[in-house]
Amino acid sequence: MFTSALPQKTQTVGSLPYDPFEAIEALKQELNAVILAHYYQDPDIQDVADYIGDSLGLSRQAASTNADVIVFAGVHFMAETAKILNPNKLVLLPDLSAGCSLADSCPVEAFAQFKAKYPDHLVVSYINCSAEIKAMSDIICTSSNAVKIVNQIPQNQPIIFAPDRNLGRYVMEQTGRDLVLWQGSCIVHETFSEKNIVQLKLEHPEAEIIAHPECEPTVLRHASYIGSTTALLKYSQVSPTKAFIVATEPGIIHQMRKQTPDKYFIPAPGINNCNCNECPYMRLNTLEKLYFAMKHRQPEITMPEEIRVAALRPIQRMLEMSA
Ligand code: 13P
Ligand code: SF4
Repeated sequence: MFTSALPQKTQTVGSLPYDPFEAIEALKQELNAVILAHYYQDPDIQDVADYIGDSLGLSRQAASTNADVIVFAGVHFMAETAKILNPNKLVLLPDLSAGCSLADSCPVEAFAQFKAKYPDHLVVSYINCSAEIKAMSDIICTSSNAVKIVNQIPQNQPIIFAPDRNLGRYVMEQTGRDLVLWQGSCIVHETFSEKNIVQLKLEHPEAEIIAHPECEPTVLRHASYIGSTTALLKYSQVSPTKAFIVATEPGIIHQMRKQTPDKYFIPAPGINNCNCNECPYMRLNTLEKLYFAMKHRQPEITMPEEIRVAALRPIQRMLEMSA
């Protein structure tokens, strides 16, 4: 199972061409490549991407692309999902150590033991997990379709929900179902401080608090809207409100500002006002590393075929159930 050490900024060999955007565009044509980027990526990467989205949107794009090469500007589990869907394509991740604390919080052996205690339970796993955990699951979900998917499972079918306990609790609330939760979490979303958010709201009473369901319940209870990154972006566009306190990774604010330049967005602060609200894994990818990954056609995502085949089935179920 891929696990990520605490991320360190690494150097690339060589320097970027004079116009990296033009050079990346040329490589895109040469390789017949598509660049898929998550909203938590640096603004430069978002600006060079062919598609920017949340985990569900990115999976759908990966499932439908005609490109020969997928350059995945996101974290390992996302690029791995693209590879599971596209065994014959080259899938590149600019920095192979761009992992995810939430995926790491669900190790394979411990999860196998946990699952064995509930033999009659269906396993619904959040996409933020390794290929091995996906292979042990019945259905995958993302933050944008978790409620919809659980609602389609018969009421008398008991469910294990893994690995995020905060999203799991939120799904329990929304569906009224009793789920057995794996106690995993994301270091970024658990860093938001209720006290600082309440303080910020007092300073900006005109602002709406919007939050990702990976946040703790103490933060979610102050939010007027809860949703995936794409849902938060859409909400910020359609809401008549002009100001938002955004409780998720602040990379998304780049798109929010681009879509509605007349509104303003305040990143929710972490404890002690640290900048630990930035995902240290996502931010390992840089424009420079993306360029070199395309130039050298590596680092490449690979995995054993039996894991890939077993992980594909629950991902396909998710795509069918959220069509
Ligand atoms: P989304 O489903 O909103 O893309 O969430 C992905 C993620 O990693 C949140 O931390
Ligand atoms: Fe993983 Fe959290 Fe980073 Fe999302 S923000 S990729 S859940 S560590």
